[in-house]
Order: sequence, then structure tokens, then C-alpha cells
Amino acid sequence: MKVLVVGSGGREHVICWKLKQDPRVTELFCAPGNGGIASIATCVDIKANEIEKLVSYAKEGQFDLVFIAPEDPLALGLADRLEEEGIRAFGPKANAAIIESSKAFSKSLMKKYNVPTAAYEIFDDEQKALAYLETQPMPIVIKCDGLALGKGVIIAQTLDEAKKAVSDMMGDQKFGSAGSTVVIEECMVGPELTILAFSDGNVAVPMISSRDHKRVNDHDEGLNTGGMGAVTPGADMTDELKARIQKEIITPTVEALKAEGRPFKGVIYFGLMLTAQGPKVVEYNCRFGDPEVQAILPLLETSLLDIVDAVIDGKLNEIDIKWKNKCSCVVVMASGGYPESYKKGYEITGIDTCGKLVFQAGTALKDGKIVTNGGRVLCVYDEGDTLDEAIDGAYEGVAKISFQDAHFRHDIGRTLG
Ligand code: AMP
Ligand code: GLY
Repeated sequence: MKVLVVGSGGREHVICWKLKQDPRVTELFCAPGNGGIASIATCVDIKANEIEKLVSYAKEGQFDLVFIAPEDPLALGLADRLEEEGIRAFGPKANAAIIESSKAFSKSLMKKYNVPTAAYEIFDDEQKALAYLETQPMPIVIKCDGLALGKGVIIAQTLDEAKKAVSDMMGDQKFGSAGSTVVIEECMVGPELTILAFSDGNVAVPMISSRDHKRVNDHDEGLNTGGMGAVTPGADMTDELKARIQKEIITPTVEALKAEGRPFKGVIYFGLMLTAQGPKVVEYNCRFGDPEVQAILPLLETSLLDIVDAVIDGKLNEIDIKWKNKCSCVVVMASGGYPESYKKGYEITGIDTCGKLVFQAGTALKDGKIVTNGGRVLCVYDEGDTLDEAIDGAYEGVAKISFQDAHFRHDIGRTLG
């Protein structure tokens, strides 16, 4: 089979790594890929949001499967366009990917179908939003409706901070059109948990749970990032908690999307908070989480390609998905300065000799050397019988990799966020 993976991060590296283990995958391409992906797939110089170029490339190259990993091409309708051209694609159509591209849509869906989430109001008028804030208890959460690279969420501790967030988003358009509508919601309290689930439009099967660490510095301090590391399992997953998440959140979401004429085929990301009242949805995404999936896929025993086929063909209930009974950890190494400005082009050493699996993100090949080329540069993976073993193993790998100004957290898996 000839397979094209769309995307360029650590998530796409682990997807390529896992797909490549299936002997049916004889030719693997990635658009645009990165320095690490280049060692296992042919990188193609087309960006993930260049929809028509990707469609033509897949069509002319007679690809058997296109695996769409990031949210942007999904929101832009790449899965729809590929289907129109008769090319098999993994990933939801735009009308289902909207669960990530519009927070206002997903909040309304949750309200209509009784999926537990924070109480909220939606505003497209700045003055009304400001007036509403005056009536609310603090802290409060302000979110851009649209895609803002994980940055369009402000947890305001005071009324002044809340008003500033609304004015930045709606008045000053700090996040462009993503902020012309905002969601203002109740601030929930509790540990966070990520549940990714394969969905074939009818049923959804959760993967093992995971926990992301979003803040840039130790002790959950500093700015929010795309994720500085992840562990699995993400919480003490008792049978009761698993059953509750399936019954109250996963199944109703998949059924709601189906009932709305938006069947979801792909991976649904449930960002959950375990509140005193039970698990509630913080956010939906329409794809694998990064870096959660780098901690999850190495534990998957079943072929990813078999699952992809079952999702596309609506046969998820016919497949038995098997996992290694282990814990895992990934630690992200980032460029100093991330998530704000940082320099690129520093040589990275130790990747091949650190003795651990390394999934690369912001890297490039330059004159035969791997150099930094992005904010999150790579992540180091390890697994173990206990979470402590997995964490210690990942940090042993990190200690052997170096590049100038490398930044990483020292407490991945040891804190709750
Ligand atoms: P989101 O992009 O919606 O996942 O939000 C980013 C982060 O903001 C989440 O991972 C949470 O840590 C936090 N957050 C979002 N919504 C809420 C909420 N309603 N209550 C408390 N924290 C929240
Ligand atoms: N790790 C968070 C995300 O992928 O959205």
C-alpha cells in the first residue's frame, strides 16, 4: 500500500513509525514531514493546509490511503475533497471536524445532548460580553470560538483580566477572526485527563488514557504550550470511571454527531476535567493529541492500519484493539523561548545514541545534520511496568540529547498538569 501522512510534528512522526510496522505499508510518504520523519518516510514539500495541492498529489501518485493528522486540513475539508476524488482518507469531514474548529458549536452540541461540561454563554457582541462579565463570579474562562493554536483560552482571576481578555479577542482581534465570537464559561476545578477514542461514525472505542502537561515550566507555571510532555495512564482509571466516561461523554458525543448528520470518522480527543461532580468535557479536538499520542501509540499492539480500515469502513465493533500492559512517558525538549520567540538551526546531538525512542517535531536535516527548526523540537519516549520507571527512562534519554538553549520540564508525570 502507498500511504501519505499529512502533518509535520511529533504526532506525525509516531503515526509514520507505527504505520511502517505494518507489512502492508510498502511506500510511506509524509507532507511536509520533518527531519526525523525523513528517515522513515519520503517527505513531500507540501504544507498541511495546501488542500488542493495535497489532493492533486494524492491523486496523481495513486495513493491508497491519506492519513490526515492535524486539525487545520480537517477543518478545511481535506477529507471531503479526497473522498470526492475517490481516495481513502482517515480523518473526519469538515462538518464533523467542527467540534474543534468551533467551540461555540461544540458547547451547543454538549448542551443539546446533555454531555457534562462547564456552564457557558456565547457572545458575538463585545459590549454584551463585557456586561455579562460584571454579573459573574471570578475566576472565569474566556475562549476564542475558532482555532488559535491552543492559545485562545484565558483563565481570568479578576474582572479586569477577564475584561482585558474579551477586549483583546473581540475588540483588538488579537487572534484574528477566531476571536470575533467568544465563549465565556465557568471555571472548573479538578485534575485533567485526555481520552482519545477511535470513532467510525456509529461507535467509539477509547484508547488508554493519558495526561498532557500544557504549561511551559515546572510546577505548571508559565505560558500554555501545545504540550510539554505526557504520560499514560492519565489517571487512576477505575472501571467505574471508565464506564462513566463512556456512558456520559463518549457514546452521547458520537451519537449526537450522528444525529446531527455529522458522523465522525477518525479520532475524537476528549479533554476532560475530573470535577467533584464527575468527569466534564473541557474541549473536543478532532484528531490525535500531541504529545499524548507519542505516549500512546507505542503501547498499541494492534496494527494501526487495521484500525484505520475499520474506522473508514464503519466496522470498529468487529476489531479487538489490544494494548501492552505498561505505563509510558514522553518528555518534550523545546527551543529556549518557546512558546514565544526562539532561534532555529542549532545542531542536535544524541538522538541516535540515547537508547530511547525519539519522536521529532521541529527538526530539519541540514548538510546531513539534524538541526532545530521549531518550538517543540522532539520528545523522548520510554515505557515501564510502573509510571516511575517510564518517567525515569524518558529522562535518561533526555539527559543524553543536547542542543543549544534546550528547554524541558523536569516534572512530567509528577504533577497533575
Ligand atoms: P482548551 O483549549 O479549551 O483545552 O483550554 C486550554 C486549557 O485551559 C485546558 O487544558 C484547561 O487547563 C484550561 N481550561 C479550559 N477551560 C476551562 C474551564 N472551563 N475551567 C477550568 N480550566 C479550563
Ligand atoms: N496536547 C493537546 C492537543 O493536542 O491539543
